[in-house]
Amino acid sequence: MNNFIFKEISSKEEMNKSYAIRTRVFCEEQKISKEIEFDNLDHLCGHFLIFDGVKAIGTARVRQKEKGLLKIERVAVLKEFRRLKVGSILIKNVIKHYLHLDYNKSIILHSQVAVADFYKTLSFSAYGNEFYEDGIPHIAMKYVKN
Ligand SMILES: CC(C)(COP(=O)(O)OP(=O)(O)OC[C@H]1O[C@@H](n2cnc3c(N)ncnc32)[C@H](O)[C@@H]1OP(=O)(O)O)[C@@H](O)C(=O)NCCC(=O)NCCS
Repeated sequence: MNNFIFKEISSKEEMNKSYAIRTRVFCEEQKISKEIEFDNLDHLCGHFLIFDGVKAIGTARVRQKEKGLLKIERVAVLKEFRRLKVGSILIKNVIKHYLHLDYNKSIILHSQVAVADFYKTLSFSAYGNEFYEDGIPHIAMKYVKN
């Protein structure tokens, strides 16, 4: 049975585990350049990991865009761990982490169009027109609180 554990990153070692997942998923699998992936905004973000036991298998970061507006970015689950609800556990916990004290905050993200249905299962709604980011079709989405 899987034992998925959510954690806010609190050490350089954990940050390196997140970088390793992002390198595998975005740079190697999706062919996004390292210059774009590692965009010098990481120091402005909160970072999170999901572990299966001791192995880091998923990651995400959250950037405060302006007061009260948060943007989830760099959501990635290792290929061999997909469709096991790892991404769902990750995003649900990220939302809980930011909203449990302050329900006035808004959470947005830019979803790759190919995975917008994943975010729809997590109460995100699409808005606006599709656009290209890093050569990949995207759509803006906003978390709609129940
Ligand atoms: C998108 C991603 C994070 C989803 O993670 P995951 O752990 O596989 O997702 P879950 O298992 O929690 O999926 C929950 C539900 O979301 C939907 N879903 C998940 N992945 C989907 C996909 N690729 N396409 C459409 N719907 C999807 C399904 O309804 C799924 O439920 P089901 O498996 O019972 O059908 C993962 O596929 C990934 O890392 N992809 C590569 C990187 C990426 O594209 N990141 C997003 C950048 S915006």
